[in-house]
Amino acid sequence: MTSGVSPGVTLEPERLAALRALFARSFGDPPPALLSRAPGRVNLIGEHTDYNGLPVFPMALQRNAAYLVRPRTDARVRLVNREARYGAREFEISRAIAPFEQGDWGNYVKAAAQTLAARFPIRRGFDAALDGNVPLAAGLSSSSATLVGALLALMRVNQVELPLPELQELAARAEHYVGVAGGGMDQAISLGGRAGHALVIDFAPVRMQPTPMPSDWRFVIANTLVPAEKSGAARAAYNARTRECREALARFLAHPECAGLPASYFGLVHGVPRERLLALAALALDGTLAKRFRHVVSEGARVEEARFAMLRGDASAFGRLMDASHASLRDDYEVSSPELDLLVAIARSAGALGARLTGAGFGGCSVALCLEHEAPRVVAALQQRYYAVRPVAEGEPVFVAQASDGARVSEL
Ligand code: GLA
Repeated sequence: MTSGVSPGVTLEPERLAALRALFARSFGDPPPALLSRAPGRVNLIGEHTDYNGLPVFPMALQRNAAYLVRPRTDARVRLVNREARYGAREFEISRAIAPFEQGDWGNYVKAAAQTLAARFPIRRGFDAALDGNVPLAAGLSSSSATLVGALLALMRVNQVELPLPELQELAARAEHYVGVAGGGMDQAISLGGRAGHALVIDFAPVRMQPTPMPSDWRFVIANTLVPAEKSGAARAAYNARTRECREALARFLAHPECAGLPASYFGLVHGVPRERLLALAALALDGTLAKRFRHVVSEGARVEEARFAMLRGDASAFGRLMDASHASLRDDYEVSSPELDLLVAIARSAGALGARLTGAGFGGCSVALCLEHEAPRVVAALQQRYYAVRPVAEGEPVFVAQASDGARVSEL
């Protein structure tokens, strides 16, 4: 028995009608021929592990980026966005596409086009209207959904295909176009998600272990309303963490006591008992690098424990692992914020079994695990103690995640 429901390969009727109308207004006849839909994600545990070669444990969300697409015979791409503040964009597909300004939404489509063009001699662009309903800059991967939806549409228009793991790697590489040295989690889950399941994902090569969600577990997502822009200030802080992790590993391995140990985080987590690893880290590293290292190896180990907890339906154990993850992200990885800590505390005091920040941090969202019957109480507490005293500009800042299917293209 699983709890999530898949939104299927179509869109909610109202959303589809509004997007069709936008397409017709922008591009005229004939109508679009394809719908490409790619979900955002919530990561349950395994944060800042992917770029260190360690697993993550996300699920795809019911929120997605949806494109209505009409193939073209030339290499032009024309884009409009249902969100009025994002203007129309146009460009030509090639192997070297100059980016729009930093932070521009069109860069996610350019990223897909340039990377695909480097892999295949693609010649055809499209006219497309986009409607994204993944909250933006919230740590729920709206940007990867935007990129993956465009990538699948371009592949279909150009009739090229790739096996899923290769496609997941290509999509992850593509996102480096926007200047984030990210790992592969967001693209892998957007492409590989499965309704009713969370997925443990390993990297290089991508491997997925779909894990059925117990029917009475609910993951409540709450937005701090503090944007964590992937293209803004959070980008520099994120990229700094990736460098620190590399440096911590190099220094650790260079210490004489560590001679002969496996030379990767993956090898260390799997080949060296945790106590010994932490004792060696205390010898070899200090200050910031010691903290970063401690987070990475402890979080890497927690993912596997969390998978077993989910498999045996042990929500309390899963919740404890989420709490430990949050403490580690706050104290050792230093990516939490007062708002995230507050959301976590409210959820815990209202009956959640565990809670943590999700995504890169520096703002964005928290995720809390509760049993079905506790979920309304947790949502109400978040509403009363967080949102009642803050202006919510738009959308639902707190919602229950539904484990959904990955990205798909369908003919209209
Ligand atoms: C961002 C990145 C991911 C991952 C998370 C942190 O979402 O895009 O690759 O590193 O941060 O776990």
